[in-house]
Amino acid sequence: MTPRENFGSRFAVVMAMAGSAVGLGNIWRFPYMVGEHGGAAFIILYALASFILVLPIFFAETIIGRRSRQGTFGAMEKLAPGSRWKWLGLLTVFAPIIILSYYSVVGGWSVEYLFKAVCLDFTNTPPEQVQGFFGAFISSTGGPIAVHTIFMLLVAGIVLAGVKKGIEGFTKVTMPVLFVLIVALAIYSVTLPGASEGVAYLVKPDFSKVDARAVAAAMGQAFFSLSLGVGTILTYASYMRKEENILASGIGTAVSDLLFAIIAGFAVMPAVFAAGIAPGAGPGLVFDTLPYIFNRMGADVPWLSAVIAIIFFVTILVAALTSAISMMEVGVAYLTEEKGMRRPTAVLIITVFAWAVGVLCSLSFGPLAEVKLLGNSIFDFLDKLCSNWLLPAGGLLFTLFVGWKMSRPDVYAEFTNDGTLKANVRIFDVIWFLIRYVAPVGIVVVFLTNLIL
Ligand code: PFF
Repeated sequence: MTPRENFGSRFAVVMAMAGSAVGLGNIWRFPYMVGEHGGAAFIILYALASFILVLPIFFAETIIGRRSRQGTFGAMEKLAPGSRWKWLGLLTVFAPIIILSYYSVVGGWSVEYLFKAVCLDFTNTPPEQVQGFFGAFISSTGGPIAVHTIFMLLVAGIVLAGVKKGIEGFTKVTMPVLFVLIVALAIYSVTLPGASEGVAYLVKPDFSKVDARAVAAAMGQAFFSLSLGVGTILTYASYMRKEENILASGIGTAVSDLLFAIIAGFAVMPAVFAAGIAPGAGPGLVFDTLPYIFNRMGADVPWLSAVIAIIFFVTILVAALTSAISMMEVGVAYLTEEKGMRRPTAVLIITVFAWAVGVLCSLSFGPLAEVKLLGNSIFDFLDKLCSNWLLPAGGLLFTLFVGWKMSRPDVYAEFTNDGTLKANVRIFDVIWFLIRYVAPVGIVVVFLTNLIL
């Protein structure tokens, strides 16, 4: 069996975890969720959900991962040998591979938009045509599959290089750069003529739009955005050294993720208003708005428009890659540790499987648009299945496992590094209460709301 690798430092752990958390969820999903659910009010709900409800799940996953030093399946077998908990391990091996399949399709769209930016397509095309770019592209056949393939190969290449050289090496360099890029874009966006309405939308809460649906959406977004409930954080935590601090890593990751989402909101929303597009336009928001902005800007200063477009799509692409590698790593850890496969074989199997499912997702915007699963297209069905059901279910089971199956002394020892971390010792009772009661009850509420609505 391949010897187990570790992340080299606290910085590396936080960058890898933040890399998993910060992704399309922040740049593509968060802005349109904000647009659909009342602007600033949704951001407040999302922040509350992230810290009160979802952060305890982060701690639960890191405690399981680091204590067992195994991937999701092995972790359950090690901490609860011979029990039914191994099925949770198996569920959380499959869920991230399914997410990877459709995530890679959206990752592919960002590859396509990067090509378009490099070829100056946004600047050199009449405005009417630019607005039709997105719809025309996703409903075609070969193009979206080609870029989905490119994206998947990039992911496979990084994961193939291993935990330390591949994942740590890539995220340690790209995450800080990503942060600088998104801040630069936000500064640019808020200075666009007509942007002030978008800024007001993000800072003045309109609580009249807050209903049960918005609360459920905020919690779902927090799950998706922090990569929780599907064992990715658990798997990364299994590569954490014993002296690392679980509390600090959790807060570091959650704060980076939240900050990044808010800054991405400032990069996108003022542009949406400047372009006169409705903030509630749905999943196409980013991909529909930006070409329009770059096109308009290009009429004044073409080279600047091209440079900013390239920066934007590189940012989206890199953020998507650092998340997608964490999804693939869950399955790779399973196949190498439990099935004794070599890393390249494991990467190949997962790549081929996720790619094939992704092809169906991609075709569901075009030739397979008529194929419906419970009334949804293949893409929507898988997205809803994962975000609304599998992630909260996994999160619920992880908190129940730590809060009710593991012993309190074991959890205490893991969370406080055997009582040596003073701040962790002081806060332990609160965390224990959140894991045992607050998070499970909160998740059940999300479930019921989703079920009723
Ligand atoms: N957190 C990622 C994002 O915001 O784009 C998405 C994600 C990554 C979801 C890993 C689930 C996962 F296991």
